Amino acid sequence: MCGIVAYIGNREAYPIIIKGLQRLEYRGYDSAGVALINKAGKLNVYKRKGKVSDLLDFVKDEDTSGSIGIGHTRWATHGEPNDVNSHPHYSQTKDLVMIHNGIIENYAAIKEGLTKRGHTFLSDTDTEVLIHLIEEIQTHENMKLGHAVQAALKQVNGAYAIVILDKNDTNTLVAAKKGSPMVIGIGKDDFFIASDATPIIEYTKNVVYLEDEEVAILRRGQELKIRNLKDKVITPYIQELTLEIESIEKGGYDHFMLKEIYEQPRSVLDSMRGRLRAYEGDIKMGGIVDHEKKFEKAKRIIFIACGTSWHAGLVAEYLFEEFARVPVEVEYASEFRYRNPVIYEDDIVIAISQSGETADTLAAIELAKSKGATVLGVCNVVGSSIARATQGGSYTHAGPEIGVASTKAFTAQVTVLTLMALHMAKVRGTLSETRFRQLCYEMEAIPSKIEEVLKLNDQLREIAFIYKDTANALYLGRGVSFPVALEGALKLKEISYIHAEGYPAAEMKHGPIALIDEEMPVFVIATKGANYEKVVSNIQEVKARKGKIIAVVTSGDTEVKAIADHVIEIPETDEFLVPLISVVPFQLLSYHIAVMRGCNVDQPRNLAKSVTVE
Ligand code: G6P
Repeated sequence: MCGIVAYIGNREAYPIIIKGLQRLEYRGYDSAGVALINKAGKLNVYKRKGKVSDLLDFVKDEDTSGSIGIGHTRWATHGEPNDVNSHPHYSQTKDLVMIHNGIIENYAAIKEGLTKRGHTFLSDTDTEVLIHLIEEIQTHENMKLGHAVQAALKQVNGAYAIVILDKNDTNTLVAAKKGSPMVIGIGKDDFFIASDATPIIEYTKNVVYLEDEEVAILRRGQELKIRNLKDKVITPYIQELTLEIESIEKGGYDHFMLKEIYEQPRSVLDSMRGRLRAYEGDIKMGGIVDHEKKFEKAKRIIFIACGTSWHAGLVAEYLFEEFARVPVEVEYASEFRYRNPVIYEDDIVIAISQSGETADTLAAIELAKSKGATVLGVCNVVGSSIARATQGGSYTHAGPEIGVASTKAFTAQVTVLTLMALHMAKVRGTLSETRFRQLCYEMEAIPSKIEEVLKLNDQLREIAFIYKDTANALYLGRGVSFPVALEGALKLKEISYIHAEGYPAAEMKHGPIALIDEEMPVFVIATKGANYEKVVSNIQEVKARKGKIIAVVTSGDTEVKAIADHVIEIPETDEFLVPLISVVPFQLLSYHIAVMRGCNVDQPRNLAKSVTVE
């Protein structure tokens, strides 16, 4: 994971780098560091365990001047999070310094060779090994830095996005990437480098997304030069960013997570905009139009994803099977990629990813492509690696999601997947025109129903206060609400560190029921639908063992109200669309509990938003 930022130009580099690192902290926040060369040519390196704010305190009286510099925020892989393992890392002579996002898998063998040849290492990181190797090649082969980088990278396995600063050449930055993202911003007479576009947009909208195995040479006042590892010159493809600066700021909310929860009426609408035409009884999805024949004939859909995106895939399983009558499998990308799965050419594989950078999902995509399947993407980040690696698909258009715990990305994913399922149903003729139109109208009403749920915030804060000190929590749901139970439990555990489990309500009696006593809060989705009576029975089973029931019910419900400790009434919708609404109270509950427990809501411990390591 990790976030990288670099600058070369005529401005002061330090403020640009620090602001950029703060924007990239969602990628990891175990340590932070910068390297800058001042006017006199002195290289200053400052790095510190902890957040960017800790680094700021640490360097407040130091020389941070200079118009060339690199910076890093780390999510630890090799070596514990401490000052020494923080980036940037030095080469043997300390003339070169490097920042790195990714993992060099064969670093141990390279390190052994370098050690035998007299190299000494300060840290436990794979990054330090790579910069030593680059310098060794540069010196022994008498190469320019760019060529030495190319030669060294041919020897490494793994993933990297690297930027190197050379003390003896204060007019050049060298960058390269494979498997980890890198964006280069082209200013008027300066360059910006970052892991995503957010540190760059306030300076320039012209960017180049570096491709795998490309090496970029950024010289002050000159044009960007790119070569690949085979030394082929690549013409930079300059794109214009559409991102706006307001979308990556908190806009008056205490936390990004809260802002993103409240953005959902809008983000769900944005993910349907131009696609759902309820009045015409039609759904248009530009990114899959070329694959319509495949949708018609597909024997199977396989969803691959991780984390919350995997939960969205689970919801989609119910929808695609119900609406389009196609068999569906939902796979953890990390399992799928190593399992030698059976994949057919008439399979449609749909990768779901907010960031579009998750390493396991990317690898699973490559595997599916190599077996001849049609591979589509449902991504949020425009231009991300997964969006580019897939053959088509749909963006979710939820806007930047910065809180590490995913909220609006989930509802946007479910929205897009619902539209895809309905579209597929239309192509295959598996839904009546009346049912299709009814579902389209219900979809159109979802944003205003989410708006209604957000009005329950005060009630949810009160419930949060009652259960904030619980040690455990259970989440139950059946059918399409089962994945919502999983997502509710994930939200609670990841930001408040309370142990929580999501379970299919009927499975409770095969184990979790043993945990239930008067201390145990059990969150249940008990909205109206085919499984309603069965869920009511499950609630009775919990009450019989004195568990506390917090039930999400359809507005006006009386049966559950009579037995539950608390009911959260949400507007009625089609039972297959309930997840888009029922997940919202769970997001708010988790948010309030985490705030009351004093947790860092936007940056929970040990987590990162974009998981670019396997
Ligand atoms: C991390 C994030 C989760 C996210 C998961 C998958 O674990 O913290 O919020 O659901 O990665 O990420 P993706 O970007 O592929 O959806």
